[in-house]
Amino acid sequence: MNSRPPIVGVIVVAAGSGTRLGADKPKAFVDLAGRTVLERSLSSVFAMQREAQVVVVAPGDLLAEAEEITSHAAGAAAASISVVAGGNTRQLSVARGLAVLGDSIRIVLVHDAARALTPAAVFDAVVTGVAQTGSGIVPGVAVQDTVKRVDDDETVVETLDRSELRSIQTPQGFPRAALADAYAEASIEHTDDAALFAAAGHTVSVIDGDQASFKITTPWDLRRAEGLLSAETPPAGIRIGIGTDVHAFDDAAELWLAGLHWPGERGLSGHSDGDPVAHAITDALLSAAGLGDIGTVFGTSDPRFAGAHGDVFLAATRLRLEEEGFVIGNVAVQLIGNSPRFSPRRVEAEALLSGLLGAPVSVSATTTDGLGFAGRGEGVCAIATATVSRQYS
Ligand code: CTP
Ligand code: MG
Repeated sequence: MNSRPPIVGVIVVAAGSGTRLGADKPKAFVDLAGRTVLERSLSSVFAMQREAQVVVVAPGDLLAEAEEITSHAAGAAAASISVVAGGNTRQLSVARGLAVLGDSIRIVLVHDAARALTPAAVFDAVVTGVAQTGSGIVPGVAVQDTVKRVDDDETVVETLDRSELRSIQTPQGFPRAALADAYAEASIEHTDDAALFAAAGHTVSVIDGDQASFKITTPWDLRRAEGLLSAETPPAGIRIGIGTDVHAFDDAAELWLAGLHWPGERGLSGHSDGDPVAHAITDALLSAAGLGDIGTVFGTSDPRFAGAHGDVFLAATRLRLEEEGFVIGNVAVQLIGNSPRFSPRRVEAEALLSGLLGAPVSVSATTTDGLGFAGRGEGVCAIATATVSRQYS
């Protein structure tokens, strides 16, 4: 880590209102899969190889929130950070950012916070481009659609040569002094910084951008970004667990099975109410989340669970998982034994268990053709599997 002041400044403009997105807050502050759009943009900025001064331009009434998001995104990155209020147009917002760059800054990148998924490598490539050429450098991608010029009646006037066209993204990079002069001279609104820079007579070159850099403008774009982020979650994001439980018949006990009371049926012995379905599900959920098993979590000596029915274990297990940030995907459990006949109450049991866990629970039942302890009618067994996933962090 060098202690020399940075020569690169990154201005992240986030002061727009996001009219086309139509959310209840400005676009940069909208949630994108568990983190704000601004934080996601900034995490790429802070992942740059080069150290940079980072300037966030935010709506005047959200400066404190923007500061909190920025310092959270910076984490341990040793960066100089400023948060300033934007203006009524994007161009004014960039100008506000330029005004607070430190004296050491030689290369400036301007980035739309709305391009939340731009990879850090694009930022580094733009810096390198500016350093090597002294020109303006913008990331761009080939245009996929055929582009036509139309007149006021939507009548096609001409088809443009797509091979000559690029869709231009941000971050756009410039030599600092030339950009500051171009801004000082600008008398009209330009659609991007490169247009303003070119209007002052400077050269701008395009380097390869990234499809992930698309600008989040409409609700559809936000959903697309969410889809990309969830697709990134590795398959290991879904975790599977297994649980088995066996209880012996006890003619003196009441039968509790799958959270239901079964009057007149042979009961099962065991700590708590001897409900193997509820206990197998509990073990499967804890195993999926890597949180141990029913014995370690609920302890056979814990008086809260002596005589407790399945609903107590299941509600406590769900709470335990939620505390750790897990959501339950689904649970499947199979009961193996000669009695009771389960199918008449399957729907009732599934509804009860699904309600307790807030996730679909399916219960099936089978016999073992007279073989083994279950076949001899000595007891019943339940085997459960469960899936859980961690919520976005
Ligand atoms: N921006 C800004 N200050 C403004 C207007 C826009 O800092 N006065 C920023 C936005 O926050 C965004 C980027 O410029 O990160 C690109 O602008 P755009 O996508 O148009 O965002 P909004 O102006 O917020 O959206 P809309 O045009 O739909 O209102
Ligand atoms: Mg706008």
